Amino acid sequence: MSKELRLGIIGCGRVAFHHAEMLKGLDGIKLVAICDLIEEKARKLSEKSGAKVYINYREMLAREELDLVTLATPTGAHYEHVKDILAHCAVNVLLEKPMVLRVAQGLELNALAAKKGVRIFPVYQNRFNKAVQRVKSAMVSGELGDVVLGTVRLRWCRPQRYYDLAAWRGTYSMDGGAYVNQGIHYIDILRYLAGEVEEVNSCLAQLGAKLEAEDTGVSLLKFRSGGLGQLEITMAARPDDFEASVSIVGSKGLAVLGGICANKLETFSPSPGEQAIYSEEVGMAYGLSHRQVYSKLITAINEKQPSPVDFNDGLNTIRLLHALYRSNEDRRWVRLDEEVESKRLGERNDKLLAEYLI
Ligand SMILES: NC(=O)c1ccc[n+]([C@@H]2O[C@H](COP(=O)([O-])OP(=O)(O)OC[C@H]3O[C@@H](n4cnc5c(N)ncnc54)[C@H](O)[C@@H]3O)[C@@H](O)[C@H]2O)c1
Repeated sequence: MSKELRLGIIGCGRVAFHHAEMLKGLDGIKLVAICDLIEEKARKLSEKSGAKVYINYREMLAREELDLVTLATPTGAHYEHVKDILAHCAVNVLLEKPMVLRVAQGLELNALAAKKGVRIFPVYQNRFNKAVQRVKSAMVSGELGDVVLGTVRLRWCRPQRYYDLAAWRGTYSMDGGAYVNQGIHYIDILRYLAGEVEEVNSCLAQLGAKLEAEDTGVSLLKFRSGGLGQLEITMAARPDDFEASVSIVGSKGLAVLGGICANKLETFSPSPGEQAIYSEEVGMAYGLSHRQVYSKLITAINEKQPSPVDFNDGLNTIRLLHALYRSNEDRRWVRLDEEVESKRLGERNDKLLAEYLI
């Protein structure tokens, strides 16, 4: 019989509560410990989960013999936190998105984990939405044919009070803007379905709130396969989250993933009868698929199976985000094989970072 995994969560903010909810009733894994620098936040999560509370993750790692930790701290601190965790303990890490803000940081962390004999698992939960999986199988089998056009349309609402929740939000050093924080899920799905991107041209702006990075943008993409793509992303939709859709115009048919987090198969021309079967109702934009991620991790860890999302594959989405930013910064088409990065995304800000280091 496979072992029940002992899980700890570091960072008890917005998304951690969702993780705890998605873990409920899942066999094969137990949330045994949680940690936040702010004890009250950890206590609140503990009321819901019964897990032991810590305010120092090194102490948690030393005492709890964990198989897996979920890192849900502010994005700009992920690199430092994972490096420190692996320096103190050989433990697998489920790393919330965006895993890191610089590609070199990701490569370094992955090499460190390999040295320790553990793995870092990217989240990208929406890849496991039923609707996304159905379209993926159609891309692999050739049911939809070759990619003619791949499109992301994200119309969500993040008002000023969202950016004011914490100093790290919307900054280049700790978060990024609408493309990096929210758009990453759908840009990743587009890559997952349509394949690698060869060249991009972006125009980014702040239109709905005051933040350092963008809350709105449009981009043109050329895929390696020869197909074309388009991104239309905004957090300035009001008064609510309306849409997160990804569509593929293939040479043999059309697939449109819609809903607030690509949770619905709105159009599937090869087999319209399957649209309802592969559509799910979700209560919020995080969706329901963190549960799928944990379920797959139980098998991946216990049976030494491949990661649900390969780390280097996940890192390619970060590479693409850098190309999209750099194109806007230089006002030009950027080829992915130039391997240029944004001049600002992931720039170190010791003042902001200091708040989260122990
Ligand atoms: N997959 C998704 O759909 C999804 C959704 C939301 C957020 N996220 C990601 O999850 C991460 C966290 O986002 P959030 O909205 O929950 O942020 P948040 O600010 O609400 O929570 C972060 C928490 O981390 C804690 N923290 C910081 N440094 C710490 C340390 N050294 N030790 C222990 N705790 C520490 C903070 O006190 C805070 O409570 C971000 O990377 C974000 O992009 C992913």
